[in-house]
Amino acid sequence: MPGRLIDGNAVSANIRSKLATRVSNLKEKGTSPCLATILVGNDPASSLYIQNKQKAAKQVGLVTKDHRLEENLQENELALLIDSLNNDPAVHGILVQLPLPKHINEFDIINKIVSCKDVDGLTSVNSGLLLHGEASLKPCTPSGIMELLDYYNIEIKSQNAIIVNRSILVGKPLAFLLLERDATVTICHSKSANLGSLLLGSDIVITAVGNRDRFILKAEMVKENAVVIDVGTNRKSGKLLGDVDFESVREKASWITPVPGGVGPMTIAMLLSNTVTAASALNPISTS
Ligand SMILES: NC(=O)c1ccc[n+]([C@@H]2O[C@H](COP(=O)([O-])OP(=O)(O)OC[C@H]3O[C@@H](n4cnc5c(N)ncnc54)[C@H](OP(=O)(O)O)[C@@H]3O)[C@@H](O)[C@H]2O)c1
Repeated sequence: MPGRLIDGNAVSANIRSKLATRVSNLKEKGTSPCLATILVGNDPASSLYIQNKQKAAKQVGLVTKDHRLEENLQENELALLIDSLNNDPAVHGILVQLPLPKHINEFDIINKIVSCKDVDGLTSVNSGLLLHGEASLKPCTPSGIMELLDYYNIEIKSQNAIIVNRSILVGKPLAFLLLERDATVTICHSKSANLGSLLLGSDIVITAVGNRDRFILKAEMVKENAVVIDVGTNRKSGKLLGDVDFESVREKASWITPVPGGVGPMTIAMLLSNTVTAASALNPISTS
């Protein structure tokens, strides 16, 4: 029997509907939760991501600010904008779309965002809190994956979980979230020597490579009844594909996410959720 589908569109719709209620409660008590996004340059994929985030934010009733800046903007100018948003009491969440142009230091810019408005959960303060199991604003893709596993009651405790990705956006924070839930976690990357045997020994496989010329997860690489979460995005002739050879892997998996319609919508839902959480924390009287 083919693996069951993990429906990110349905789970995210459920989360967004609950968020819309929380937003309306906050508004009744005098707080209009506001997300400010910043896009530097004209990268088409990044522009599309910002457009989708802005649209989804409006749909749950968030106020949005949409800052679009020139590619050749200087780092200090960007820092000044972040400072002004940090100090603006009407703004509750700040998102800087990554990647930034090469001449801007991403680490320094992310850390200009005050941690209580860091709705991407990427500042050093929030990363440190995550490590301690104390973060309230967690990186969106990893927390979206955890939501998916929980929604479908997929066992995490004592499972062998493998993550093919070691980025600060996906692999590293996800490893901590899975560890916190008692999984045994392996992180792999482009230099991992024994990826094949590690994959075959894993109950939960999460892949986020995004380059099908270098890596495709095929059926023979996963064990029977594995849970397969595909984070990767690859655009081929206008079509969006993940890292997984979906149809063949589905035959072996117990659960599997599609691309599109799996992890992607959850990343956006968790961004909105973080913004509402930030607004509630910044205006505790209005907390629903
Ligand atoms: N759906 C969503 O919401 C969502 C959210 C975030 C990211 N994504 C997607 O996820 C993918 C990764 O994003 P990212 O920002 O984390 O990118 P990234 O920093 O480039 O990470 C890619 C990872 O894949 C590893 N890798 C590359 N080739 C490999 C190979 N042959 N075998 C094993 N590992 C290999 C890299 O290893 P090294 O570290 O050694 O280079 C790296 O850790 C992209 O497709 C991105 O679009 C999707």
